[in-house]
Amino acid sequence: MSEGMYTFPKDFIWGVATASYQIEGAWDEDGKGESIWDRFSHTPGKIDNGDTGDVACDHYHRWRDDVTLMKELGLKAYRFSIAWPRILPDGWGEVNQVGIDFYSQLVDALLEMGIEPFVTLYHWDLPQILQDEGGWPVRKIVDAFTEYADVVSRALGDRVKNWITLNEPWVSAFVGYSMGHHAPGYTDQDKAIAASHHLLLSHGQAVPVIRANCPAANVGITLNLSPQEPASPSVADRKASTWMDGYINRLFLDPLVGRGYPQDMVNSFGNAMEFIKPGDMDTISVPVDFLGVNYYSRGIVRSNNISEEDNEPRTVFRGDEITEMDWEVYPKGLYNILGRLYFDYAIPAIHITENGAAFVDEVSHNGQVDDPHRVSYLKRHLEMVKKAIQIGVPVKGYFAWSLLDNFEWGYGYSKRFGIVYVDFQTQQRIPKSSAKWYQKVILENELDATA
Ligand code: FCB
Repeated sequence: MSEGMYTFPKDFIWGVATASYQIEGAWDEDGKGESIWDRFSHTPGKIDNGDTGDVACDHYHRWRDDVTLMKELGLKAYRFSIAWPRILPDGWGEVNQVGIDFYSQLVDALLEMGIEPFVTLYHWDLPQILQDEGGWPVRKIVDAFTEYADVVSRALGDRVKNWITLNEPWVSAFVGYSMGHHAPGYTDQDKAIAASHHLLLSHGQAVPVIRANCPAANVGITLNLSPQEPASPSVADRKASTWMDGYINRLFLDPLVGRGYPQDMVNSFGNAMEFIKPGDMDTISVPVDFLGVNYYSRGIVRSNNISEEDNEPRTVFRGDEITEMDWEVYPKGLYNILGRLYFDYAIPAIHITENGAAFVDEVSHNGQVDDPHRVSYLKRHLEMVKKAIQIGVPVKGYFAWSLLDNFEWGYGYSKRFGIVYVDFQTQQRIPKSSAKWYQKVILENELDATA
């Protein structure tokens, strides 16, 4: 092995990730109920260019071809999410068998191709009918989610062994209920804090249900984690970055490992958090088999002294290498996060459940899509995964975001994250050079850091 070649552990899991609303389309077919993202994207002014997920990558009809493509790319695992309103159009109660069948066939096809399914139960497409009753800020959602987790794990638990309860509860709660950029589009901080508690509680209550239906299950939760660093050494900026770290990272990590909510956050929210009931914190800290980490960038934080009322710190500066999302390319942040999870939080197993970058991609005259920036991004982050493994961090798998260019939430189709290009007019798929590069990494289980 030459210098600069990294070999990964033999059983390292190589995958890609997607999410139901971002790729499926068929938004009202075969008995599916409306989701909060259907409602949000159909509301004028919410999504760039008026885009919706009505058709998206048409994966609902093209899934067989997409699975074949994954096989050709040599992928070993596929993380996808289930659309709750396809399974339970009313949120709970009557099960839509056609919805179950769709995912059941998908799972069978993956297994036939030797691709391990990783199922995310909730990647943001809540049944609208549950939102009409209050959504995540209202406690009864926890029982609805538990019922949904029960139905799905009963149906697929004989074949699916890897389960992720929630994707990025911080985003669901705060971007959805306090910033208003995501569905359901509220701007109410108290709602967001209650939502974040009920999301965590839903996770905790669902884990034993999934285990009961699928005794061999590996169950985890996926968080968006990101180191937060002060913009200057000033006391004010250091305080601000500690606050941001609490808000994005500790508010979720601490309760999950049994440390309760971080006191600095509770104080700063000034919210009595009366929605916390006896026993909740024990439910939330149920042991899991792994933690899923979505990593994209770091935050650089400056204190904001604009006014007493609006004194939340701001992320201000993002370095000089940035992606189309305006996110700084900062691979070292992944290493920092991974080290912290193991050495500070003693997390027993970690999957990188998302990592990737949006860049402008163009189809060349000979029909190829060359994306050297994405190759460089993925390679440099994988180097950090390798380094983390070398210092003992138990990273078990890596899922590139994303298999396909897709509906990037508020940005619609304007941001391309795929390793496979999608022509949204014709639905043609073209593996980019990053897909071919990744295929080679997987085949050799090795990363050539010098190439
Ligand atoms: C993450 C989401 C995923 C995708 C990437 C770019 O926050 O989980 O659906 O949008 O960002």
